Amino acid sequence: MMTNQLTAVDFSRLTSRAEGICAQVMRDFPPPPLCYRALDATESERMAEEVERVMREGELRVSGHNDAAVWERGWGEVADHLKNQEITIDTLRPQYFRGEATCRLFGRYIRPASSSFEYDVGLVLRRLIFDEFLKGIETTVEFGCGTGINLLLLSQQFPEMRLVGTDWAPQSRDILSQMARQEQRSIEGHVFNMLTGEGWAGDTIDRGTAVMTVHAMEQLGPNWQRFADYLDAHRPRLVLHIEPILEFYDQQSLFDERARRYHLRRGYLNGYYSHLEKRAQVGQCEILCAKRTSFGGLFHEAYSVVAWRH
Ligand SMILES: C[S@@+](CC[C@H](N)C(=O)[O-])C[C@H]1O[C@@H](n2cnc3c(N)ncnc32)[C@H](O)[C@@H]1O
Repeated sequence: MMTNQLTAVDFSRLTSRAEGICAQVMRDFPPPPLCYRALDATESERMAEEVERVMREGELRVSGHNDAAVWERGWGEVADHLKNQEITIDTLRPQYFRGEATCRLFGRYIRPASSSFEYDVGLVLRRLIFDEFLKGIETTVEFGCGTGINLLLLSQQFPEMRLVGTDWAPQSRDILSQMARQEQRSIEGHVFNMLTGEGWAGDTIDRGTAVMTVHAMEQLGPNWQRFADYLDAHRPRLVLHIEPILEFYDQQSLFDERARRYHLRRGYLNGYYSHLEKRAQVGQCEILCAKRTSFGGLFHEAYSVVAWRH
């Protein structure tokens, strides 16, 4: 079957950005060849059955509980591994990017040619989204920053930007200290729990600051109100989310319905976008962008974009 390669044209379709901009960002930060083939009807049916089986029988961790143990263990392993190594995009790759044999793209299943396809496509998407929303921003604070991969990308893309990362796992702060030493720039790390609002007081967040979350509010399930209150208390210039957004799936599509059920089964972010929409209707915030990104691993799509301001 025919092999395809993702190009600037596809990224333009994924992000709604101009082809020329996508091409420029891909020239500045060239990804490896992003090759794949579309699955035929029989293969797709088999993948749909596999997703159903995992949802029925799999031991899936459910998000939304106030327990950081899994993340402390995971980021502790990464921090140990990094002790004698340079921090790079590859050494920061989280363990959960296992190299999905099947991904979702433009409403169908595809088979990537390389095991790092999902991660690599995600990096291009992140760079394009950062280019669209964070250019010219003085300070970016990422909540739930994990290994700090997004802060490393930002440090390459915007050499002047002041960077702050927070996570409830203290190991994440250790990785950021190493990153700051290596990159010889200020990258602050703090401990903060988005479920309870405990930890860093957010004193550097001001009207020149963008707040960002990437696959982190996803972990709050329906328990995002404390974090929403925290954002209201600090009123940054811009809030940018790259997250799986339940409300963006097409209720009429079976392909989407499977991802929706997976999202709910994992207890991922629920109700937050509807909350923002309600607030926007009464003038309490302005939604600058609400865009589904039709790409994901086998189970769901985690790169949708919501940008808003007070
Ligand atoms: C899927 S990872 C994403 C990490 C990083 N943003 C990235 O793009 O690679 C989710 C992150 O959210 C953090 N997290 C989950 N629940 C949290 C909470 N209640 N407060 C703060 N961080 C949390 C985890 O420790 C983890 O680092």
